[in-house]
Amino acid sequence: MSRPTQPTPSSGSGPAQVIAIDGPAGAGKSTASHTLARRLGFFLLDTGAIYRALALAARTAGVAWDDEAGLALLARDLPIRFVPRSDAAQAVLLGDADISLAIRTPEISDGASRVSSLPAVRAALLELQRSIAGAGGCVVEGRDIGTVVLPWAPVKFFVTASPEERARRRHLELCARGEPSDLVDTLAGIIERDRRDETREAAPLRPAVDAVHIDTSPLGLEEVVDRMERIARERLRLGG
Ligand code: DC
Repeated sequence: MSRPTQPTPSSGSGPAQVIAIDGPAGAGKSTASHTLARRLGFFLLDTGAIYRALALAARTAGVAWDDEAGLALLARDLPIRFVPRSDAAQAVLLGDADISLAIRTPEISDGASRVSSLPAVRAALLELQRSIAGAGGCVVEGRDIGTVVLPWAPVKFFVTASPEERARRRHLELCARGEPSDLVDTLAGIIERDRRDETREAAPLRPAVDAVHIDTSPLGLEEVVDRMERIARERLRLGG
């Protein structure tokens, strides 16, 4: 099967073959989104990478992460592209530079979280997300996809896991990397971040009314993706 490439931008304001996947960090959303996109032969749009790319671009351009007007200006012409790589992952390009790794540092995670809380930034990135996803054949992963970016998406999932389970997964991940981690602190951090994400003014994290909720706490990845794939194939009439 040929590798799905970034769809040609379209006006994207109506029904298309798109699947919206939202949920908090650490719920298993990212792995499930990648796997689902691969199984369906769909392009994966990782919208978190867009906020990360903006944080990086701002740092390079000397625009502060709280300069809302400056960031919105930068966001309107963000030259970001997603291109398939040979290892089944996707490269994120900003202009001609491959920023796939540079956007995954703790510093840029912090910057992305800051810039994504600003309403003008979210508004400026809306069209970019819609234009990529609007062409269809796309799994779109984020926090506000089903509620704000693509409220017309025919398939929406809200992926969660209990704070305890997310803390446990994060703790194991850090331990496996040999990094220091304290389970109690990790849990407290997750509870605090949930509270911030759910109560912020700009696009708070909440499920769309028509989203299918999937709690990944008791499920393995295969089970999660099997469930998503079944629902997506049925609703999008993909067969298989
Ligand atoms: O999913 P992620 O960790 O790569 O996201 C990076 C940051 O961007 C994170 O703080 C959440 C935020 N984000 C958002 O506010 N809305 C989205 N649609 C995607 C990500």
